[in-house]
Amino acid sequence: MSAAKKAYKRVTTNSLIEMKKEGEKISMLTAYDYSMAKAVDAANIDVILVGDSASNVMSGHETTLPITIDQMLYHASAVVRAVKRALVVVDLPFGSYQSDPKEALRSSIRIMKEAGAHAVKIEGGAEIKDSMTRILNAGIPVMGHLGLTPQSIYKFGTYSVRAREEAEAAKLIEDAKLLEQLGCFALVLEKIPAALATKVAKTVRIPVIGIGAGNGVDGQVLVLHDMLGLTTEFSPRFLRRYMNLYEQMTEAVLYYINDVKSGDFPNKDEQY
Ligand code: KIV
Repeated sequence: MSAAKKAYKRVTTNSLIEMKKEGEKISMLTAYDYSMAKAVDAANIDVILVGDSASNVMSGHETTLPITIDQMLYHASAVVRAVKRALVVVDLPFGSYQSDPKEALRSSIRIMKEAGAHAVKIEGGAEIKDSMTRILNAGIPVMGHLGLTPQSIYKFGTYSVRAREEAEAAKLIEDAKLLEQLGCFALVLEKIPAALATKVAKTVRIPVIGIGAGNGVDGQVLVLHDMLGLTTEFSPRFLRRYMNLYEQMTEAVLYYINDVKSGDFPNKDEQY
């Protein structure tokens, strides 16, 4: 059951650019630990993002802001140990790149060196140009992230659709062009009108990967725990759930408790 046009043994940043040229859509999911990353990689996903959404889904925080670089390194190194094929991209967490370009480079080097990541992702456009340049000049591949940028949630106040207004849409297009010009290998567009995302994907040559950005882009990304139905509170329109894992897990645990209480587990074949 594969719609892939070409079999990539190992996905690289160049493979993604090639996929865009060939019109092959790029598949991307998050993962934060060894076991989940192993399963996702075995299914031949193209890109695994160790997202700072780990702050929400792994640690139960309301926003992505609290997660630290050391915590990201813990998640990222577990994912890298599991992955044989996918490109592993790791988010630079809030506070690890905004204050100055030197700090941004230091944080990126830690992610590449200590976790073994293949690329980093940072949120923002023109305002982080100097940091972006510094990281790229060190030979570290960077994925950009525009539209809804969750690390700026307290600036915007809501998680609603971004760039509906003309001025914001125009800035987003300019930022996308800038990120391409600086040398980003790909770009995530989050929660913006589909028509705008399509326009960006047609304007830049680098792959544009959408989340809540419609079908006219070069690939899609979802948070793994959301698409597996492991998170239950979060139900935006763009989310397609492929499983109801929360219910299935709870049911399995109920069966286990019942078997323990009734003395059915372990049986004769399950002991030494
Ligand atoms: O942190 C994350 O999971 C992300 C995706 C939503 C793109 O940035």
